[in-house]
Amino acid sequence: MKNDILQALQTVSPIQLEEHMLERPANSKLGDFALPCFPFAKVLRKSPVAIAEEIASSVKHPLIRKAEAVNGYVNLFMDREVIADSLLQTILKQSAAYGSSNEGNGGVVTIDLSSPNIAKPFSMGHLRSTVIGNSIALLLEGNGYQPVKINYIGDWGTQFGKLLTAYRKWGNEEDVRKEPIKTLLNLYIRFHEEAEADPSLNDEGRAAFKVLEDGDADALALWEWFKTESLKEFQRIYDLLGVSFDSYNGEAYYNDKMEPVVQELEDKGLLVESDGAMVVEMEDGMPPCLIKKSDGATLYATRDLAAAIDRKNKYDFVKSIYVVGNEQSLHFTQVKKVLNKMGHEWANDIVHVPFGLILQGGKKMSTRKGKIVLLEEVLKEAIALAQKNIQEKNPALANQSEVAEAVGVGAILFSDLKQHRKHDIEFDLETMLQTEGETGPYVQYAHARANSIVRKAGATDEFAINEVNDHEWDIVKLLSQFPQAVKRANDELDPSVIAKYAVDLAQAFNSFYGNVQVLSDSANKAYRTALTECVIIVLKESLRLLGMRAPEEM
Ligand code: ARG
Repeated sequence: MKNDILQALQTVSPIQLEEHMLERPANSKLGDFALPCFPFAKVLRKSPVAIAEEIASSVKHPLIRKAEAVNGYVNLFMDREVIADSLLQTILKQSAAYGSSNEGNGGVVTIDLSSPNIAKPFSMGHLRSTVIGNSIALLLEGNGYQPVKINYIGDWGTQFGKLLTAYRKWGNEEDVRKEPIKTLLNLYIRFHEEAEADPSLNDEGRAAFKVLEDGDADALALWEWFKTESLKEFQRIYDLLGVSFDSYNGEAYYNDKMEPVVQELEDKGLLVESDGAMVVEMEDGMPPCLIKKSDGATLYATRDLAAAIDRKNKYDFVKSIYVVGNEQSLHFTQVKKVLNKMGHEWANDIVHVPFGLILQGGKKMSTRKGKIVLLEEVLKEAIALAQKNIQEKNPALANQSEVAEAVGVGAILFSDLKQHRKHDIEFDLETMLQTEGETGPYVQYAHARANSIVRKAGATDEFAINEVNDHEWDIVKLLSQFPQAVKRANDELDPSVIAKYAVDLAQAFNSFYGNVQVLSDSANKAYRTALTECVIIVLKESLRLLGMRAPEEM
């Protein structure tokens, strides 16, 4: 709409216009768009009032109903009825496809997301990575890309030598079976405590990892078992979140794929020795990238290098995204630089998508030393709270447990996604679950309310628009902006654009619902029902893009 208007203005404007010059007045009495003419006065040696009058009297466009010159502004009023009619037709016809595009042309984008570490609790950071990464994947798909979701499980490294050592010393099978992650974490913590008193334990742990790396069958079997048990626990969380992956190739998968990379670094003269370790040096005062320890063991960066190359070979991505916390920024900068130094031009297509911490009472939620916040418990608590709310407010509702799950989990997802990912976010279940304010349940509730209207009205085949009132016009304008929101969220890899959009649309719908008769005004019933159907389509799609469900009744 804006571009059309800008073009129409350009044909009668004595000066070159730019998009930012066209404002959207907050008060709709001042029109849908306004062009302030003050900046042109000097060049044209005319008063802004005169310029505005000239433009207002000559601008013509089928979508402009009225142009008024007021105090140096050109206020433009759109033909609401014509615009609403064609938009509603479009949305009803395209349905769930409304807002999507083919911009990506099927290009593959790999997304490294979630990536928890086995034998450790699934942390709040992993939750953020999962939720943000999943929404980015959905946005990419909506923009015509082909996302490949890779869960790069942390299942390799010296810590597993330590864990094997600890298990053999103090562990037993039964406890691991019963509560795998809790038990393994405690073993790991105990290892560190005892190693403080007896540092030789650390050497034992390192040696045990070497044995594992070299493929010892007993060590591998034990490690394999820890992994299976851990993944079972993670899977329960993924099921609750409704997230799935295209690949679970984690760090261990690269155990036998690192040597060629190290060799290539060597051949290209990039490896240098530093304190017995092999490193690639960085410029600009950046610490060197560690490739091999003095005992020959590989590192996190070595595995990420091998993984990046493997992904390029396997998927020929146009972009390779890593949804990982802010604190790993240096790591990804280094990995990218090393790949660049190796001559891989595609390294420029690697994008680290960082995010902030989840705080509780202003402090980082800790998974260390006993103070474990188990995510599964948090999700279950949210679902239970949602269930309680339903029992209080709508005890007759069918599928209560399904709805409670959609709302409880949705509340957590939404509170995460509505803020720009780089911000730290405060975790407070009660606030997240409120049906007022900028929450997931608020948006889901608006969607359910819209569904109940359409159920009562019956679907509309045909409608005529007599007049579009201010409440309806607010909705129409928002509906027309949805495709841009989907594009911008994708361009900026920022789901919060969609979350904020959904809140705005839900708010506009609620004030329409509170002020306008849909069912009892027979002259406008069909049109208003059609408008409500469009709200359903777009709210549902917004929620879907955030990885949330949209119950039809709540
Ligand atoms: N497992 C790591 C952690 O929990 C995150 C892995 C992120 N992905 C990667 N390709 N390095 O910190």
